[in-house]
Amino acid sequence: MLTFVCATANPHKARELEEILRDLGSFTLLPRPAEIASIEEDGLTFEDNAILKASAVCSATGRAALADDSGLEVAALSGQPGVFSARYAGEGASDAANRQKLLRELDGVTDRAARFVAAVAVAFPDGVILVVEGAVEGTIAEADSGEDGFGYDSLFIPREGDGRTFAAMSALEKNELSHRGRALASMVEALRHAGRR
Ligand code: IMP
Repeated sequence: MLTFVCATANPHKARELEEILRDLGSFTLLPRPAEIASIEEDGLTFEDNAILKASAVCSATGRAALADDSGLEVAALSGQPGVFSARYAGEGASDAANRQKLLRELDGVTDRAARFVAAVAVAFPDGVILVVEGAVEGTIAEADSGEDGFGYDSLFIPREGDGRTFAAMSALEKNELSHRGRALASMVEALRHAGRR
């Protein structure tokens, strides 16, 4: 059994990481200790930010730590909001405000292609760091739909789905298609290759 401390503060992402790792088997994800201060995500890429978070929590706890850094890349917006997804409508913006800004930016735009990307990093106390990425292609809907999920879920329709947004799917359905599910499946392979599993 491999145990990681969760280095992701976002409770929605932490819950998905926990569920996906549970389904993959033989992993335990410990909650992020509340006393760890928030970590500045000033990297230029998802991978940089995932490594920053995993390394900081590994140093603070002395235990292997797992971090997710993720976001939405919209083709017609040259890949925006990207690493700024959480603060697209400004520092501390709500998910609803970020989605409204996205709909405004795409008003009248016919190319609505987008993808979610997740980088997952694991940092071990002996200094070894593993990082992988997962992505899911899709389109941005004209309006919110679906009750579940978080962030941009109610606007994102995965290409390999049945036309529903991530927010209209069960957790299991989303995790099977999602950037986060794919990144964690790659991480399991990376851990095996590195002899950590
Ligand atoms: P960060 O990785 O904490 O910087 O935040 C990533 C941001 O990207 C989140 O706040 C969401 O707005 C968005 N995001 C990442 N993954 C998802 C997802 O699975 N569904 C919806 N939004 C997501």
